Amino acid sequence: MPANVRLLRSEFLGLDEEVPLKDGRRRVYVNFDNAATTPPLKAVVAAINSFLPWYSSVHRGFGYKSQLSTGVYNRAREYITRFFGADPGKNLTIFVKNATEALNKLSYRLSTREDQVILASRMEHHSNDLPWRLKRKTLFAGLTPDGRLDLGDLEEKLKKNRVALVTLCGASNVTGIINPLQTIAEMAHYYGAAFLVDAAQLVPHRPLHLGSGEVPDFLAFSGHKLYAPFGAGVLLGPVEAFSKGIPEMIGGGTVTAVSKTRVLFAPPPEREEAGTPNLIGAFAVARALKWLDDHDFPALAAYEEELTKYAYQRLATVPGIRLYGPPPTLTPRVGVIAFNLEGIPHGLVAAALAYEAGVGVRHGCFCARPYVHHLLRLSPGAVAAYEERIAAGKKEDLPGMVRVSFGFYNTREEVDRLVAALFFLREEEGKIKKSYRLNPVTGEYLPPGGDYQARLDRHLESFFL
Ligand code: ALA
Repeated sequence: MPANVRLLRSEFLGLDEEVPLKDGRRRVYVNFDNAATTPPLKAVVAAINSFLPWYSSVHRGFGYKSQLSTGVYNRAREYITRFFGADPGKNLTIFVKNATEALNKLSYRLSTREDQVILASRMEHHSNDLPWRLKRKTLFAGLTPDGRLDLGDLEEKLKKNRVALVTLCGASNVTGIINPLQTIAEMAHYYGAAFLVDAAQLVPHRPLHLGSGEVPDFLAFSGHKLYAPFGAGVLLGPVEAFSKGIPEMIGGGTVTAVSKTRVLFAPPPEREEAGTPNLIGAFAVARALKWLDDHDFPALAAYEEELTKYAYQRLATVPGIRLYGPPPTLTPRVGVIAFNLEGIPHGLVAAALAYEAGVGVRHGCFCARPYVHHLLRLSPGAVAAYEERIAAGKKEDLPGMVRVSFGFYNTREEVDRLVAALFFLREEEGKIKKSYRLNPVTGEYLPPGGDYQARLDRHLESFFL
């Protein structure tokens, strides 16, 4: 491993932890599930530890600690707005729990006319689909057969409808495909629509600038995918979008006056953040972004891009593999690769990687079912049939994929370990299929013997002693 990569790895917490395999051996864990959650940055944890003795109420008390805490919270907000090059006079960072909450918030708060619609796409995470489709008239831009956004269809829908908001992922959580944000912003604005980017999978992987030119109007992302656990996310958008109307959640902190007959709402952001805010989470997000700023973010992004290309090309050598989406050499992608191994259920592949090799991945539909159906080329009949099975409580043999997703700290050696484990699975396919049992309740595969579960239970207990 090159010295600079070793140095980079030393910035993250928990990368040397060993995990048990099914036979009791232990191996250093490989985390290839960064699209779900990333490990914490040591710098974030250290900043929080140094602040915790001063931790106190935000916007509520008047003691020294309260004033300091309020200051840290406000500074975190301003830092984040500036990080993206947005003008803090016109734009606002609103703290929420995660990208899902950010998208839900805007789905309640966006002011639209009766005749206006929302335009999303078929490659969205459920969090950028359900809040819209269940509340407002929502159209969905189609996809190319290989899983890219069909820009022609997007424009056609913009042309033919009164679109209030175009809402798209910056990068897909299934294929990692990066959408051409500037082109889409130009298009949306030309047709009079605002543009929101669900940037949960983009902010942790690529620098994003909202300063000038045709840029997105709103941004939603999560701290837990950005090396900043502690439960905060961000909705960034124009101040004026939050200056009127009643927020979806109200109560303490959102008002300037309340009498028996009258309620005066506070200006944003207070209006939008009901209850005592998550100061530690907000501070963590700001510190994680600062770490990116201090560590040559463009160079980190270039490293991850190279790693993704390497992984794609190495994975392609596994017999019977099907990789989804165009190669990263042809289409810009963040470090997310979804695949299937012909003849082996995706759940069994994920189980074998965990129990035989200590490699953590995610499998299934990744909360993006319409996109996965498209990539798997499932007919409407096939989708309906499997939905019936789910409705009947059956969790076996459901369609899906295996997903590996990278962070800046992952290495070629780890990719090699993944590929070796997949070759091993291919060679031992018969034996593994026979010895692993399917739990029909969860739909997950379990290795032979009960030792692994017992070890996991003991480990879990140790946190509650
Ligand atoms: N949205 C996260 C993922 O794709 C949880 O895994």
